[in-house]
Amino acid sequence: MFYKHTPVGNRIRYVASDGADLTGQLQQLFDPFKSIFYDSGTSALAAALVAAKRSKQCRKPEVILPAYGCPDLLSAAVFAGVKPILVDLEQNRPWMQIDEIERKANRDTVAIVCVNFLGIPERVEQIRGVAARVNAFVIEDSAQYFPHTRDYDSWKGDLIVLSLGRGKPVNLLGGGVLLARDDAIDTRLPEIEKAMDSAKPKEFRYRLKVLLYNRIISPRLYWILLKVPFLDIGSTVYKPMANIAPLSTATKSLLASNIELYRSDRLDTQRNLSSILDELKIDQDKLIDLPRSCELGEGSKLLRYPLLIAQRERDNLLQVLEEKGLGPSVMYPTTLNRIPNIDDLFAEDSDTYPHATNFSKRIITLPTHNRITPRDFRQFKLLLSYLS
Ligand SMILES: Cc1ncc(COP(=O)(O)O)c(C=O)c1O
Repeated sequence: MFYKHTPVGNRIRYVASDGADLTGQLQQLFDPFKSIFYDSGTSALAAALVAAKRSKQCRKPEVILPAYGCPDLLSAAVFAGVKPILVDLEQNRPWMQIDEIERKANRDTVAIVCVNFLGIPERVEQIRGVAARVNAFVIEDSAQYFPHTRDYDSWKGDLIVLSLGRGKPVNLLGGGVLLARDDAIDTRLPEIEKAMDSAKPKEFRYRLKVLLYNRIISPRLYWILLKVPFLDIGSTVYKPMANIAPLSTATKSLLASNIELYRSDRLDTQRNLSSILDELKIDQDKLIDLPRSCELGEGSKLLRYPLLIAQRERDNLLQVLEEKGLGPSVMYPTTLNRIPNIDDLFAEDSDTYPHATNFSKRIITLPTHNRITPRDFRQFKLLLSYLS
């Protein structure tokens, strides 16, 4: 009870870049992409959708999204004024069904959003072919993935969305980046509300938040945070977006040092989990090791380790892992058309998205951060062995 891992997240390094030419330094960080910085990943996605909408004049702009995903995808679509059109997943995979994308893409489709699921990429190249036929943008939502080396070729979209939020690969407690291959995107992006950002007190508050965060993620302290009911840690709900704002200078100045920190992080935890699963040799009908089933490359970094397990066993496993403080998570509880408080967004949609629904009931993730100890690994091995 007094030991709880966070499902995700390493420490934040408070080493600020020299303020003299911050803009130039940041552009270099993502070279050859053009980079635009926002207050959140949701804002970056909304900006990408506005740009896609402005690039293709149509009466009723639509965006294609996976039926299982983060509710922020809907917040961004609603804010940008594009209608979300959902596509079911492949069976037991985090990928959209490409033939369903083909069926649903039409002349009103301004963008197809390909979501990288915890480090497992969508099949962007294939989807690009469908997008080209209807002249739509491919937006790669990489909120849950950041390349572990400076190999930006792993991003394949026209536009790439990054999140710097809590629980994301490069975590600065909030922020988003939009990367574009084409400089001309500038003329189509929405105007951003220039927040008054020079004030020192803001920087001081941010510094304090980072300090607190770095302390609280320790398993000996994190349990206290989980006891505070109004914080509702870990819940995913639909939050309408109010505006698009720029990223604060205080956050921007930490980006380079935290990307470096992320790259220096070893992949030991995910490799150990993968070895445990190899040793246990659990049948595919009892447990699907998603990174393995999706043939994820050895050097790809996972934000969390995702598994699919029959719902009842998954719920039991979740309960014991939680009791032991081992940081499991079951992500989003339902498909995007069924989340509460979205009014009549899907009133005309009678699809049931059976594979996405099944996925939502069977997914469980294990932490891949570097605070997992040898004792924790022994517990994982023991608890997973009951599934075989
Ligand atoms: C796939 C995906 N897209 C977008 C977002 C939104 O990012 P942010 O929390 O920075 O607004 C998230 C956040 O969880 C996400 O998982």
